[in-house]
Amino acid sequence: MKIKNKKILIIIGGGISAYKSLDLIRLLKKNKNEVKVILTKSGKEFVTPLSITTLTNSKTFEDVFDKNSEAEIDHISLSRWADLIVVLPATANFMTKLSLGKAEDLATTVILASNKDILLVPAMNVRMWIHKATQRNVKTLKDYGYLFIGPEKGEMACGEYGEGKMSSPRQIFSFLDNYFNKKNIIKKRKLRALVTAGPTREYIDPVRYISNESSGKQGYEIAEALSRLGIETTLITGPTNLVSNKDIKTKKIITASEMFETVKKNLPVDIAVCAAAVTDFKPIYKSKSKLKKDNLRLKSFELQKNIDIVEFLSKNNKHRPKIVIGFAAETENLDKNALSKLKQKNCDIIIANDVSKKDSGFNSDYNRVSIIDNSGKIKVVKKNKKSFIANIIADIILDKILINDRSFN
Ligand code: PMT
Repeated sequence: MKIKNKKILIIIGGGISAYKSLDLIRLLKKNKNEVKVILTKSGKEFVTPLSITTLTNSKTFEDVFDKNSEAEIDHISLSRWADLIVVLPATANFMTKLSLGKAEDLATTVILASNKDILLVPAMNVRMWIHKATQRNVKTLKDYGYLFIGPEKGEMACGEYGEGKMSSPRQIFSFLDNYFNKKNIIKKRKLRALVTAGPTREYIDPVRYISNESSGKQGYEIAEALSRLGIETTLITGPTNLVSNKDIKTKKIITASEMFETVKKNLPVDIAVCAAAVTDFKPIYKSKSKLKKDNLRLKSFELQKNIDIVEFLSKNNKHRPKIVIGFAAETENLDKNALSKLKQKNCDIIIANDVSKKDSGFNSDYNRVSIIDNSGKIKVVKKNKKSFIANIIADIILDKILINDRSFN
């Protein structure tokens, strides 16, 4: 299927490959898409407003303080108008500005004000691309949810060879095709997801409880990533300091039993991701009043197992989600232990995180994971931001749903 009737806002940056933007505009227009263009000051050194206007049949936007264009369409309306914003070439300098959140011209202001996905198409000399500063910016931007295509390996305009060549207009077009196809399927299918996050607390008396170090960050990031894809997402969360996006239906619970009851109430769903660190045991007896220090019950108290929520979901004949994903918090034999949890809990995917290190896992912004599916295939993601890992998980889920459901058209 070819994309059509989409509104694409193209921002042309200042690099030699800017001339290829004209081919992309031509391809998009040929397929009956609407295109508007913001031409940056340095982009103007490589392509002219006249050639753009001729291809787009629309005026070229250049200046945030341009009285004429502001009257016609302001920077907020421009970003709301678009279904997707594409920046090409995304130069090292432009990406630095984006990673700093600058709003110093029309292009950066539109992007900062945008509520749409933004696709960056980098192009630069290989040394500039592999420079630590550029790579740090790319990481930050991926973390913010920016999409990337390329750069490709090849001969560059400067005569050097390596990674830095801009993806071709055809490659960009097929990326866009794929992107809108997925969005379309999600919309038509009305996919629903449920994510558990955070710790649970099991009270011994009104002020004391058993719990763990989970901050909820990993689960919240997964809920965000799924919701950003257009999936209707319910987040069931134990006590945390986090606030979720208003598009996410958020249910706050305290105990494992409350989490279980809330999960049941929110079925059926297509996707379940259980990132919560559910406390495995709860005290059989909970004192109604605060226990005194010399109370015999404090010296030893009996525990009973909490119901396993992910196992309940994956073995649920009536409402089994199409995809059930569990997490495995491990300190040793990561993949082996996680694989046996995957089998025991009948999950489709298990995400093993190494929680033996202080700089990732529980209560950190970072995680290091192995994503293992039920065929034993393992994808290792080295230490990275939880938001980055969440985006990878969301993409894997979506691909799995699309592959699994061949009957859908
Ligand atoms: O919250 P953060 O600070 O961001 O940290 C993230 C995390 C380390 C908590 C998260 O990435 C993670 O690993 N979550 C699962 C922690 C855990 O309880 O692992 P487990 O190996 O004990 O449990 C395996 C799976 O069973 C998990 O999917 C868990 O949600 C689920 N489970 C466990 C017990 C239970 N009663 N019900 C469950 O659903």
